[in-house]
Amino acid sequence: MRTPVIAGNWKLFKTIAEAMALVDGLKPLVAGTKGVEIVVAPVFTALSRVAEALADSNIRLAAQDCYWEEEGAFTGEVAPKLLKDAGCSHVIIGHSERRQYFGETDETVNKKTRAAIAAGLTAIVCVGETLAEREAGATFAVVETQISGGLAGLSAASLEQVVIAYEPVWAIGTGKTASDTQAQEVHAFIRSLVAKLFGNSAADAVRILYGGSVKPDNVKGLMAQADIDGALVGGASLKADSFAAIANFGA
Ligand code: PGA
Repeated sequence: MRTPVIAGNWKLFKTIAEAMALVDGLKPLVAGTKGVEIVVAPVFTALSRVAEALADSNIRLAAQDCYWEEEGAFTGEVAPKLLKDAGCSHVIIGHSERRQYFGETDETVNKKTRAAIAAGLTAIVCVGETLAEREAGATFAVVETQISGGLAGLSAASLEQVVIAYEPVWAIGTGKTASDTQAQEVHAFIRSLVAKLFGNSAADAVRILYGGSVKPDNVKGLMAQADIDGALVGGASLKADSFAAIANFGA
């Protein structure tokens, strides 16, 4: 019922030429992939060139962040409508690296998410606990605060433009994936929280992605879980064959 989303977060990697080469390699490997929304998120400087390269493909384009104002004296920022202008359909918001290194808070995540939705983008809103928080038994409380803060004030209808990514910080780039059951437990919790905040039909429809060391050899087990609707992939999205193998998890 929910179309799975497989999204590649390229982070701060790849020149324009390298990005174009990756997309050239990826397109034929996923051209036959049906029933999966495939998304790639290059650095800002590569977006519009990659958008041109993706125009005839089944791969959609995301930015890795945005600002919440449409325009103005905000040196260095990029507005959601400019991401649309560059060819993006999606934007990642509140990635743990932005929370950790760039002062992102649930409040800024909320402003960015609202602005992205207003501009017609789909927001991939990231949440997840640190290792210390997990060990303190605070996983559900942390995720609840991040979701209720990050999605505050949204209507149930606008939730159609939101994809949630659960990314335990301790699993990002570490090679330590959450086990299928650890991930499923948090995904089920998030879905019940969305039901409480936005109603059952919004909760049934919202895609909840898992992120954190997703690889071709663990994607199937994750995707078999009832509440895991896709993956946000970092390291393994930087090579066409591994990302395609993940996107083709159902083959
Ligand atoms: P990883 O990154 O797949 O390299 O762990 C995931 C992410 O940060 O989105």
